Amino acid sequence: MKEKCFLFLLLLTVIHYKSYANEPDSVYLFSYTHTQNEGRSGLLFAWSIDNREWHTIGNDFGFVYSDYGRWGSEKRMIKPIVIQGHDGLWQAVWYLDHTNTLVAYTESKDLQSWKPQTFLLTENEIPLLTVDEINIAREKQKQVSILEHTQTGSVNKVPWGLVDELIKKVQVASYRNNLWGETTKLDVDRFAHLQSVNVSITPTGNAPKKISDMLVGAFFEDINYAADGGLYAELVQNRDFEYTLADKECKDKDWTHKKAWQASDGVGFAIDSVASISPQNKYYAKLDIIKEGIFSNEGFDGIPIRSGEKYNFSFFIKKMSTKSGKIAIRLVGKDGTVLASTVVKGLTNNWRNIGAVLTAIRGDENARLEIVPHFKGRIALDMVSLFPQKTFKNHKNGLRADLAQAIADLHPKFIRFPGGCVAHGDGLENIYHWKNTIGPLEERIPQRNLWGYHQTVGLGYYEYFQFCEDIGAAPVPILAAGVPCQNSEKHGHPLGGQQDGIPMSDMQNYVQEILDLIEWANGDIHTEWGKRRADAGHPKPFNLKYIGIGNEDLISTVFKDRFTMIFNAIKAKYPEITVIGTVGPFFEGSDYAEGWKFARSLNVPVVDEHYYVPPGWFVYNQDFYDQYDRNGPMVYVGEYAAHLPGRPNNIETALAEAIHLTALERNGDIVKMSSYAPLLAKAHHTQWSPDMIYFDNGAVILTTDYFVQQLFGQNAGDAYISTQPIYSNNDEKVKNRIAWSLVKDSKTKDLIFKVVNLLPVKTTVHLDYEKLQLKADSVSKTVLEGRPDAKYCQPQRTAIPLQELNNLQLDPYSFTVFRMSSE
Ligand code: AHR
Repeated sequence: MKEKCFLFLLLLTVIHYKSYANEPDSVYLFSYTHTQNEGRSGLLFAWSIDNREWHTIGNDFGFVYSDYGRWGSEKRMIKPIVIQGHDGLWQAVWYLDHTNTLVAYTESKDLQSWKPQTFLLTENEIPLLTVDEINIAREKQKQVSILEHTQTGSVNKVPWGLVDELIKKVQVASYRNNLWGETTKLDVDRFAHLQSVNVSITPTGNAPKKISDMLVGAFFEDINYAADGGLYAELVQNRDFEYTLADKECKDKDWTHKKAWQASDGVGFAIDSVASISPQNKYYAKLDIIKEGIFSNEGFDGIPIRSGEKYNFSFFIKKMSTKSGKIAIRLVGKDGTVLASTVVKGLTNNWRNIGAVLTAIRGDENARLEIVPHFKGRIALDMVSLFPQKTFKNHKNGLRADLAQAIADLHPKFIRFPGGCVAHGDGLENIYHWKNTIGPLEERIPQRNLWGYHQTVGLGYYEYFQFCEDIGAAPVPILAAGVPCQNSEKHGHPLGGQQDGIPMSDMQNYVQEILDLIEWANGDIHTEWGKRRADAGHPKPFNLKYIGIGNEDLISTVFKDRFTMIFNAIKAKYPEITVIGTVGPFFEGSDYAEGWKFARSLNVPVVDEHYYVPPGWFVYNQDFYDQYDRNGPMVYVGEYAAHLPGRPNNIETALAEAIHLTALERNGDIVKMSSYAPLLAKAHHTQWSPDMIYFDNGAVILTTDYFVQQLFGQNAGDAYISTQPIYSNNDEKVKNRIAWSLVKDSKTKDLIFKVVNLLPVKTTVHLDYEKLQLKADSVSKTVLEGRPDAKYCQPQRTAIPLQELNNLQLDPYSFTVFRMSSE
C-alpha cells in the first residue's frame, strides 16, 4: 500500500513537472474564425506543437472582432489572415463581405491589444502590407480540424511565451468576468455565515481635496421617445406631415406622411408638396371636403387632456378652392365626448398661421384632436399643433411640466444633449446639425431618428439651452466630430458612414458651424449669431462653457484629422471653451487606448468615457480612477449604468451605481463630470433599458437609479475629506460591498457622508465625527433600501442625533446619506 502511494505521488510530480518544465521553445499558432457565423465570433487562436494536433486558446475567445458597420449582422470577419511583419508587428486583414473586395485592417504588438480598425475599398490601400504579401499569406493558409470542425486559417511559428500570454489573457478575462458577473442572487450562499460587519471610519486629518463641483449631471438623448411624445410637450403626432417610410427604413408600411392622421368619409386626404410653407417643411395635408367630415389626429398613444386646463391650438392653413368658411376644432374623448371646442375662420389663399385656445371642460387620457370644416371645398394644412398652456415654466413651445420637473429635481449640474448616437447620427446625412433645430418651427429641418422614429426638432438647441438655464444646469452640447456613428448603416456609401467622414472639402464649413454655435450661445446681440438668439427671445448670452466633440467614435485617421481641425479652431477662437473629446464606447479596448493616447497628444482638457456594465464591475472597480494620471485630460463619465441580466432597474443596480459615485467623488479631482444614461423612456416605445425615468402620457415613474442620482445631485460637495477604515471583517468580498464618501459643500458649509451597504447583513459604521468640527446637534438621514430585486423604492428622510454618527446601523442593501452643518 505504501509503495502504491509513493508511485502515485511520483506520477503526480512527473505530470506536474512536465506541464511546467517541459514547455516548448516555439509552437505553431493557428489564427482563424468560425465560418458558420461569418466570423462574428472574432479572431480565434489555436496552438500546436506538431502542426497536427491543435488546442484552442479559450475555446471561442475572440481576440479581436470586426468593428465594421451596424451592430449585429454587418460585423463580419470573412477569411481573416494574420501575418507577422519583419518588425514583429502582427497584422490582420479580413474581408467585410462576400464580394471579397472591402477589407479591414488592424495591427497588434502582442495579438492581444489591437489598434482601431481601418476599412478600405481595396487591399492596395493597406498601409504596411503589399498585395503580394497578402496573396502569399492567403495561399499559405491551412485547413485544420479543431473541435471536430474543419477551419481555414493562417499558421505562424511563434515563441511559446506568446501563446502562454494569450492563454493567460483568456484566464484573466474569465476570472474578471466571474468577478464582475457577481450579482446578489447568490448572496445567501456567498455570505451564508456572515454576521453583521463593523467599520470604524476616521478622517485622516489631511487637508480636504478640491473636487469637481459639477460631478453629477444629466444625459438627454431622444431615444425611447424621450423628445417627441415625451419631454417636448407637443401633443399632435406628425404635426408637420414629414414622417416618411425612411424614418423606419421602410420596415413599417404605415409610417408615412399620413401617420397618426385620419379622415372620415367625405373628406379626401392627400399629401402634397407644391408651394409648401417652407422648403424645409415640404409636405402638407390636402383635404377635399365633399361633405362635412372630420380630420383627426391620435396624438402619441392618445392625447392626454386634463379637465379645466387650457390648450393652445394652431395650424398653418390655406384655401385651395374658392369656397371656405368656419372650422370647428375639438378635443374629443375616447367615448366621443367633446372635451373642448372652438371655431376658427379667416382662411386666405396663402398660408396663414391661425391659433385658438381650447379650455377642457372634462379630462381624458386618451383623447384626439378633431378638425371639422363646416364647408365643402379644398384646403391645405400644415404644422398642426396643440400644446398645454401649462408647460414647464410656461414657455411657448415648451416642455412637459412633470417630466421637466423630475429632471430639475435631480439637481443636475449640467445637461448633455442631444445624445448619444443621435448627436453623430447614422451615416453622414443623419449627423445632427444644430442650425437645423433653431428658428421658427416651420423652418426647422426634421429628420429620421436613428432609434427608429422621427425627430421634429421642435425640441431643438434653443429649447435645450433654455431648459438648462431654467434649472441652473450648464449646457453641454455634443457635436459630431465630422464622423457619424461607428455603427452606421452604409446608406449607399461603399464603406459605411464612419469611414467616409465629412469630406475634407466640406470640413471648413462644418468647423464654422461649430464656431457659430459658440457665437450663437455666447455672442452679444451685435454678432450675427448672437442676434439670432436674441431674435428668438433670449438677448442675454447662454453662458456656454463646454462643448463635446464626438461620441464613442472609432479613433481612426478619418476621426483624428477631423477632430483636430475642430479642436484647434475652437481653441484658437474661443480658448475659454472646454472641449470634451471622446475615447470610444468602452472602458478598455482599442478606441479607449487610442482615444486616450490621441487626447493626451492634443492636450484635450476632458474626455468622455462610456460604460454599461454589470453591477459587479462597479463593485470591483472602485479603484478604477485612483490610478489615473492627474496631469492628463480630466474625465467625463458621459454614459454609464449597471446592467443586470434582463436589464431591470432595482435596488441592486442603484446601489452599484451609488458605489461608483462614491468612487467618483473620491476621484473628483480627475473626474469632472458624470451622467447616467439614458434618462427617459416612454412605455411601449422603449428601445433601450434600463433608463432613469419611465413615463407614459399620464404618469412619471422614478426608478431606484433615479433616486441615487438625485441623492448625489442634491448632496454634492466640492471638497473631499479622506478617511481611514478599520473593518471587523477583512474578506475582500465583504469590504468591496461597503463604500462611502465624505464631502463638504463650501456654499452651505455642510458635510455629507454617503454610505452604501450592498451586503445582505447589517453594517455598523462608527464615524469618528469629533474631528469634523460639526455644528448642529442633529443630522439629516436619508435612506434608500430594499430587497436587491425591489423595483420601486423611495428614499426616506429622518433626523438623528449627532452622537448616533458613532454608531450608525445600516440596513442590508441600503444607501444612506447623512448631512450635517459644520464650522
Ligand atoms: O445611451 C444609449 C446609447 O448608448 C447612446 O446613444 C450611445 O452613445 C451609447 O452607445
